[in-house]
Amino acid sequence: MKHIIAPSVLSADFANLQDDVEMLNESSADWLHVDVMDGVFVPNISFGFPVVAAINHHAKKPLDVHLMIVDPDRYLEDFKKVGAKILTVHYEACTHLHRTIAKIKELGMKAGVALNPHTPVSVLEDILEDVDLVLIMSVNPGFGGQKFIENTYNKIKALRELCAKRNAEVIIEVDGGVNKHNALALLKAGADALVAGNAVFSAEDPIAEIAELKKLNIE
Ligand code: DX5
Ligand code: ZN
Repeated sequence: MKHIIAPSVLSADFANLQDDVEMLNESSADWLHVDVMDGVFVPNISFGFPVVAAINHHAKKPLDVHLMIVDPDRYLEDFKKVGAKILTVHYEACTHLHRTIAKIKELGMKAGVALNPHTPVSVLEDILEDVDLVLIMSVNPGFGGQKFIENTYNKIKALRELCAKRNAEVIIEVDGGVNKHNALALLKAGADALVAGNAVFSAEDPIAEIAELKKLNIE
């Protein structure tokens, strides 16, 4: 499978969001990564349902929604309604992760679980067969434009091994500080999907930047 590129709209121009979504429609991006923050789970607030719905209204690609919120069970249906195709919750925010994952799938979305940088992949051993995607955070969640944490490579490799051991087919997505300098190494370590916010939106030509990430070849 060719790898997936998911630009993060957190770094888009919120006063001209339609323009940026249309730019992503024209690009070789596969998904639009949408970061929802509640100011409790992370020390920042991003946006909520009306903004996600507005993005979805213009988007021609699936919304990959990353919930950085406490107790996400309260809002799973609402995120389905505003257009989430992939819904990712944080391991650290879910007391009954198995139930949350089952509910996301029951609602007809792909279910993802995200891990903070300090959370080892081994905590997912008994849920791996049930999830569609694991999102490895390569920065502490909350802000775009942070520095990539190098230990991420070890985590991707460890997760790949765990997936093989459990015979689980899971998309491994990496989020935070991803750019054209570390992307190939992340793919070689075993990542399937790369999120990029700052790298894409601070580039002079975002479409070319996305194309560059997309054309990387691990062979
Ligand atoms: C961080 C978010 C990321 C962020 C990535 O909490 O989850 O998706 O937008 O941005 P960059 O690529 O700038 O690190
Ligand atoms: Zn994210």
